[in-house]
Amino acid sequence: MAARQMSVSSENAEQEMDYLRFGYSYEDIQNMAQNILKRTKHKPLLGIICGSGLGGLADLVDQPDIIPYSTIPDFPVSTVPGHVGKLVFGLLKGKPVVLMRGRFHYYEGYPMWKVAMPVRVMKAMGITTLIVTNAAGGINSTFNRGDIMIIKDHIDLPGLTGECVLIGKNDTRFGPRFPATVDIYDKELRDVAKQVATELGYGHILREGTYVMIGGPTFETVAEGKLLKMFGADAVGMSTVPEAVVAKHTGIKTFGISLITDLLAMEYDQATVTTHEDVLAIGQQRADDLQKLISAFVERIPL
Ligand code: HPA
Repeated sequence: MAARQMSVSSENAEQEMDYLRFGYSYEDIQNMAQNILKRTKHKPLLGIICGSGLGGLADLVDQPDIIPYSTIPDFPVSTVPGHVGKLVFGLLKGKPVVLMRGRFHYYEGYPMWKVAMPVRVMKAMGITTLIVTNAAGGINSTFNRGDIMIIKDHIDLPGLTGECVLIGKNDTRFGPRFPATVDIYDKELRDVAKQVATELGYGHILREGTYVMIGGPTFETVAEGKLLKMFGADAVGMSTVPEAVVAKHTGIKTFGISLITDLLAMEYDQATVTTHEDVLAIGQQRADDLQKLISAFVERIPL
């Protein structure tokens, strides 16, 4: 927070209020990006946000430059087990990438704008495409634990109820006041992923569907699970949507993928208790498959 505190004394009260309510200014984001880029030899074109237990992808990155969040002024730190808290720059299948090992969640107490701030920083560093991964609970009754779901669309439940990540003053240098979100998960990228998954023999675990974001940190009650199903959601989680919305707003192509770590109970007599440990355990089992899929996907996509 050092840089932010230094600037507080020289800014007027109104600017400070804007920061507290709406987050980093365009200039703050550009400065943060330039300062981070000074610490790596790479110039990333692709950003990857690793979900719970899915950070192993970083081990596939060649010539890595690793920057812990705690060493970046004004960058939040992730407080969740399974989220390490490092930026990893390097080459994945020869393509320049930046990986976030550890993301920020609304349920940690961060405002939405802070949860998605790294996406704006990645844009300022030059990325054109973003891959978001997450662990999610399966709602669709045909899903199994360990399935991989390509995100076709999402339901921004916090957004629909007044906590959209883009609430607040809009700086059009980031993007338009009223962005369209109908095509938020790029169709071409989804098609490439399906093709690659089939080639790798993952057709039987591959799904496509709608992800609904809840605020968390509670997992759903049976009644809430039924409600989310009625909404048309196939999987539920506590992340991804603010990042995808900010990416769309700022003109980044997005591809999203969920690892189905548990299935929601839709009846009281089948209710099993989901724990964060369950979520991490299945992540480890399927991590290899998901890593292979993502690296083959990265090799294939144009940047
Ligand atoms: N609900 C919400 N978030 C989750 C779940 C779930 O069942 N599983 C993994 N993340």
